[in-house]
Amino acid sequence: MDDLLKKIAEIKEMIISAINASKDENDIRAIKENLLSKKSEFSALGRYFRELSVEERIEFGQALNVAKEDIANRLSEKEKALLETLAEKKLKKERLDVTLPGYRYEDGGINPLLEVQDEILSIFVSMGYEVYEGPDIESDYYNFERMNIPFDHPAREMQDSFYLDKTSLMRSHTSPAQARMMDMKKGEPFRVVCPGKCFRRDDDDATHSHQFMQIEGLVIDRGISLADLKGTLELFLKKLFGEKREIRLRGSYFPFTEPSVEVDISCAECGGKGCSICKNTGFIEVLGAGMVHPNVLKMGGYNPNVYSGFAFGVGLDRIAMLKYGISDIRDLYTNDHRFVEQFKKGRF
Ligand code: PHE
Repeated sequence: MDDLLKKIAEIKEMIISAINASKDENDIRAIKENLLSKKSEFSALGRYFRELSVEERIEFGQALNVAKEDIANRLSEKEKALLETLAEKKLKKERLDVTLPGYRYEDGGINPLLEVQDEILSIFVSMGYEVYEGPDIESDYYNFERMNIPFDHPAREMQDSFYLDKTSLMRSHTSPAQARMMDMKKGEPFRVVCPGKCFRRDDDDATHSHQFMQIEGLVIDRGISLADLKGTLELFLKKLFGEKREIRLRGSYFPFTEPSVEVDISCAECGGKGCSICKNTGFIEVLGAGMVHPNVLKMGGYNPNVYSGFAFGVGLDRIAMLKYGISDIRDLYTNDHRFVEQFKKGRF
């Protein structure tokens, strides 16, 4: 009997040291499985039962139960301890250090040129204009011929541009979009604004750029007059620059309009008195315009005796520079973050 009790104690010690040595839930599971299995050391002791007297059986059974209970307790204690360290480890790993600087997402800004473009387009859309973007690469035919600038016309020299081959070039103004619209409208009246990039051979400096942006406007209908042009531009420019601005039309020349005008607004800086910004004239030139030339109407399939129209071309770069007080046109194209950042309205 003593031998048996000793055996129980031995087995218990063995299992307890296994429990102490266990490092994770897999070890614990293995010990449990071993205890339950019929091949376990405790089960093996069962075969001695038969050789024992009733009293001995009771003593043996109790000793076995006490040992098993002890083991069960130690197992659950160890299991708990293991779980705790595991949770601790996990916590440590997932700890959030709120004092660390967060990630900064650079959310870009809209170039002031596009801001101004959006603003102008929405003014005209609110007046019932449609929007059409012509191609950046234009044919000689649309860029010049259809704008009443034949091959030998001196006006071509002013817009001597980037040719890709003999008949196509990077458009030198948005005016060819006028002719394309007329072709599409097939004699029907319409009003349209055509935004886009333009290109001209130019030496870049603070006020000149070989790439720039324009918005072309064109209205064709019966009975359109210079008064309509003036009224429209006055409304547009006051919406864009403020009600206090005065509008002035000066006679000018463009091959595709007759008569042609240059449109100025009163200087915001001095209110028209004269200062360095307006070069003491009190006014600042903002766009070119005029009544569509009969030749342009005719080439577009409109009878100039029935239809008339007005057209205008706004340089967006100039408008953006005036509106935002930008002194160097090149800033609009270098895409320097520090520059664009200043005009960010958080629309992205
Ligand atoms: N296309 C002209 C330019 O680039 C501007 C303009 C457009 C003038 C329409 C009159 C009418 O200078």
